[in-house]
Amino acid sequence: MNEKQRLESQQVNSNNTDKKEEKDYSKYFQSVYIPPSMKHARRRGREEVKYHKDFEINEQFDGIGNGRKFYIRTYGCQMNEHDTEVMAGIFSELGYEATDTVEDADVILLNTCAIRENAENKVFGELGHLKPLKLEKPDLLIGVCGCMSQEESVVNRILEKHQFVDMIFGTHNIHRLPEILNEAYMSKEMVVEVWSKEGDVIENLPKVRRGNIKAWVNIMYGCDKFCTYCIVPFTRGKERSRRPEDIIQEVRQLAAHGYKEITLLGQNVNAYGKDFEDIEYGLGDLMDELRKIDIPRIRFTTSHPRDFDDYLIEVLAKKGNLVEHIHLPVQSGSSDILKIMGRKYTREQYLELVRKIKKAIPDVSLSTDIIVGFPNETDEQFEETMSLYREVGFEIAYTFIYSPREGTPAAKMKDNISMEVKKERLQRLNELVNELSREAMKKYEGQVVEVLVEGESKNNPDVLAGYTRKNKLVNFKGPKSAIGQLVKVKINSSKTWTLDGEMVKEEETAEVI
Ligand code: SAH
Ligand code: SF4
Ligand code: F3S
Repeated sequence: MNEKQRLESQQVNSNNTDKKEEKDYSKYFQSVYIPPSMKHARRRGREEVKYHKDFEINEQFDGIGNGRKFYIRTYGCQMNEHDTEVMAGIFSELGYEATDTVEDADVILLNTCAIRENAENKVFGELGHLKPLKLEKPDLLIGVCGCMSQEESVVNRILEKHQFVDMIFGTHNIHRLPEILNEAYMSKEMVVEVWSKEGDVIENLPKVRRGNIKAWVNIMYGCDKFCTYCIVPFTRGKERSRRPEDIIQEVRQLAAHGYKEITLLGQNVNAYGKDFEDIEYGLGDLMDELRKIDIPRIRFTTSHPRDFDDYLIEVLAKKGNLVEHIHLPVQSGSSDILKIMGRKYTREQYLELVRKIKKAIPDVSLSTDIIVGFPNETDEQFEETMSLYREVGFEIAYTFIYSPREGTPAAKMKDNISMEVKKERLQRLNELVNELSREAMKKYEGQVVEVLVEGESKNNPDVLAGYTRKNKLVNFKGPKSAIGQLVKVKINSSKTWTLDGEMVKEEETAEVI
């Protein structure tokens, strides 16, 4: 939609409050209602990605949020968490104030996740809860954004069954939040604006970050891997990398503002830079630059094993602010299942990669994601996942029962494995995950670790909590002044997922891990 059509669409909405009359404007409907198309979302064009470095909110929207409050509920992954920070930044530039109670809000956004069916069910459940609030407060705006909005079936279901929703927009046009809000205020119809084709890379979007200790930094958007079970390549579009200079500048600024830890974000960060046509530059190069910035810790998520190259391993082995924890989703230990999943590596290739990483970084901590119950997964194939898990010695894993996603190739596969069997497998796998995590945690007893203190423990305000370089949660007694600092903690005891300890003085420590 170009600017002219956009303006037309606003006029159509603002001049047109009578339902009968609206029908006469149906030829304009397309300009307010842009539905998603999964077919379109699948396409990967060769067009060049454009970078916009001069984002500005149109002054016509100045102050539309004055005296109003916004509330955003975020589901899903870190990418969504970070998108929420960007939307919060836009709201705040428009004059809105944040609130953490839905009842106080004038605008409520659900930033949704489509990865599994239960993630979607949560959102539909929440919409059900919000309906009475909308009936009570007709001026309230309710919006659905994020990955679910990119799905045709979701948009159709909201149009049919949740007509009280005021706006639906997707992952590619969050920078259009001011225009979408404005349209929603002027229109009586639901505003649906979902771009099925990814947009350009937009720099300098405002952000209100959650907290001032750790920060997310996007390094790339989208995913081209098309694992056969996964909806993300449809909801997030094709791979687009941010330019290195923009990332480096953002990390430098965060360091200057006192942030202590950065997590670089992408669905498949190992593909970083593959889309650049003018330079040969990959994740290894980027990490080698970021290593030199004066900030204590840098992580990244998520790595795809296929593109994890030797140069990256070499750079990570230099350590410094590059932490020795790698999240390396394997999904399955069976080469046959990996093949049908479209992961493009075998069990042996994965194990070889792990061997290389461990050789270069002997104290590395590895975590992973696993899907059990992929269509027709046999007992033997599942056992291969169990044996791979032990062989690698993962310290933690996120485990999931396969959930068919409409529009993906796996959703069309016949499946002869019952849900009961899938649940049993998940339970057995989780027992193994717990066992190995307990063992890994036990090794910390008596050791001194470096903890980035994030605040009071959730369960006990007398205790502080923070994470080690390897991302282990530590609870310990210490002064409140330690919040936001890196401190040394001696571990006294361990549980399956957490460590308990006490702060020790700088000079008392010999070796810190
Ligand atoms: N880009 C990341 C994964 C993002 S989704 C990667 O490739 O590693 C996070 C995890 O959700 C995946 O690793 C996978 O384990 C799980 N997942 C994705 N699609 C799923 C589905 N349809 N059913 C169950 N789990 C799924
Ligand atoms: Fe999904 Fe695979 Fe892309 Fe990860 S790499 S987001 S699992 S398609
Ligand atoms: Fe979910 Fe979208 Fe992230 S589907 S996992 S929020 S990229």
